[in-house]
Amino acid sequence: MATTLRWLGHNTWLLETADHRILIDPFLNDSPTAPLKAAQVEVDFVLVSHGHYDHIADAVAILKRTGATVVSNFEICEWLVKQGVQKAESMNHGGTITLPFGRVKYTPAIHSSVLPDGTNGGNPGGFLLTLGDGTKLYFACDTALFSDMKLIGAGGLDLAVVPIGDRYTMGPDDAVEAVKLLAPKKALPCHYGTWPPIAQDANAWAARVKSEAKCEGLAIEPGDTVTL
Ligand code: NI
Ligand code: MN
Repeated sequence: MATTLRWLGHNTWLLETADHRILIDPFLNDSPTAPLKAAQVEVDFVLVSHGHYDHIADAVAILKRTGATVVSNFEICEWLVKQGVQKAESMNHGGTITLPFGRVKYTPAIHSSVLPDGTNGGNPGGFLLTLGDGTKLYFACDTALFSDMKLIGAGGLDLAVVPIGDRYTMGPDDAVEAVKLLAPKKALPCHYGTWPPIAQDANAWAARVKSEAKCEGLAIEPGDTVTL
């Protein structure tokens, strides 16, 4: 089976390999653009980039119901375990762990990370995934542009997912620069269009990625799937 990546709106992604289903930043029930509800998701891993509600909202419910393993920073893992989550793989910036579906590196992000109840959510991050078949994916998650993205992309990337919404993350101009630094084969935008303050023209951005970053920019709708 080919590996697929389905956009569930905002920064919520469902990555499916032949043997595993990995959910990133579960925000479904309260998301205006999510194509499904938290109760409909069957996964064995959940990756959480930082503590903000629009990235962790449905994590506890999904983790408890499915028995999936959460992968996040140390503080967020501790918070989830206190709420009854059984399986957690905690990390911090620069660390890599090996899981049944591949390797996960927790990369830096320039953002903030307080949890919904005010608990310190550690440092925000992104994820560099190297799947069992060698496919490399980078999820920048909520971040500003930073020049070390060049190092994250240095090992070659099949796909990079970057925010373009502006206001709370980098906007379209900086996201084009991010793709130039990362130099992936394909780039997908996220964290836009969920609410009016982060509305963006993803098709225009994807066209700029093609012309300015010489990379295949893709603009998809929530619910759509990309085959890797
Ligand atoms: Ni955030
Ligand atoms: Mn966010």
